Amino acid sequence: MDAGSYTGLIERYRSVLPLPEDCRVISLHEGNTPLVRCLNLDTVNRKEIKLYLKLEGMNPTGSFKDRGMTVAITRAVSEGCHAVICASTGNTSASAAAYAARAGIKAFVLIPEGNIAMGKLAQAMMHGAIILQIRGNFDDGMSLVRKVADETPVKIVNSINPYRLQGQKTASYEIVEALGSAPDFHCLPVGNAGNISAHWVGYSELAAENNQNVTQACGFCNGDCTFISLPKVTSKPKMLGYQASGAAPFITGKVVEKPQTVATAIRIGNPQSWDFAQAAINESNGWFRSFSDEQILNTQKLLAASEGIFCEPASAASVTGALHDIESGNVPDGSTVVCTLTGHGLKDPDIAIKQCHARLETIDADLDSVRRSILDDL
Ligand code: F0G
Repeated sequence: MDAGSYTGLIERYRSVLPLPEDCRVISLHEGNTPLVRCLNLDTVNRKEIKLYLKLEGMNPTGSFKDRGMTVAITRAVSEGCHAVICASTGNTSASAAAYAARAGIKAFVLIPEGNIAMGKLAQAMMHGAIILQIRGNFDDGMSLVRKVADETPVKIVNSINPYRLQGQKTASYEIVEALGSAPDFHCLPVGNAGNISAHWVGYSELAAENNQNVTQACGFCNGDCTFISLPKVTSKPKMLGYQASGAAPFITGKVVEKPQTVATAIRIGNPQSWDFAQAAINESNGWFRSFSDEQILNTQKLLAASEGIFCEPASAASVTGALHDIESGNVPDGSTVVCTLTGHGLKDPDIAIKQCHARLETIDADLDSVRRSILDDL
């Protein structure tokens, strides 16, 4: 570990991650993301809600996927794998490509042609993944990946790989450490349903009776303080999962054959972690809900314009849902709520620019014109 600096979630949470002690850790110092309190949202302030945003877009490749990928790739390398594969709506492919590059192994990624955000495609390309654009959607890609991994020596690093969920559960650990307790509600966008499942694993571990045995490698010091204990947690949050209306299998109760949404990250009709996610909702007394693309994009703009936080469209589904449930009283006044913002807004500049009506004024390059524009707007 580097003296005095954070070196990634494997070092920090090693004691609760299923990795061999002597393995080569493949890390880009992911995790340790900001938990930022909302200050300016009317609904939140009126109802005296403490609303926190977990900025997972601040991970090295710009999404929460890095938490799972560091563990999955570390594990794959420790097992002697030379190639990994995933189907992806974009972020998983970006993350797999980056961590495979770091490890010096190959990444094959299957993505739906024409339906992934530009930033994510650029990442997979830059990191040297072998990119297979399929004439089909994510669900088609997922079923192909499952089949091909049965007959070729490639390791699947989608969230059906259990080490992915193990890495992603660390977000719950960080939230509990930051707040000193679990929030009352935790809101997430739901696509393939791995992340909501992973968060529930984390919260459940922390609340388990024997959690006093859970100690963590601190990650911040040079050996003086090798272990810290987690706060004793007695409660777990209600888990709230939000989907886009055109890709909402948890609402319709069946696989959606042709999922459609502008939030391409969650354009998924047949979630692989269906049962885990449903169990998280049932056990926590939470719920699923869905929202239109227009509602999701409005929230994306609201967050960017009023809190200074730019997330990608899929991520905004969590806050869309939270605001709806706060306004309608399903989330009681005074509650502590965490929304995960799963990916950075810069992943998908096309959608942002297309939907945003910000004035773009072209003026002459002289002082008069600049002065006039400023005075007009003051
Ligand atoms: N938000 C973003 C930005 C995502 O990229 C994803 C999933 C989700 C939310 C949903 O999380 O699948 O665990 O329910 N993206 C995957 C991908 C499917 O391929 O990048 P989930």
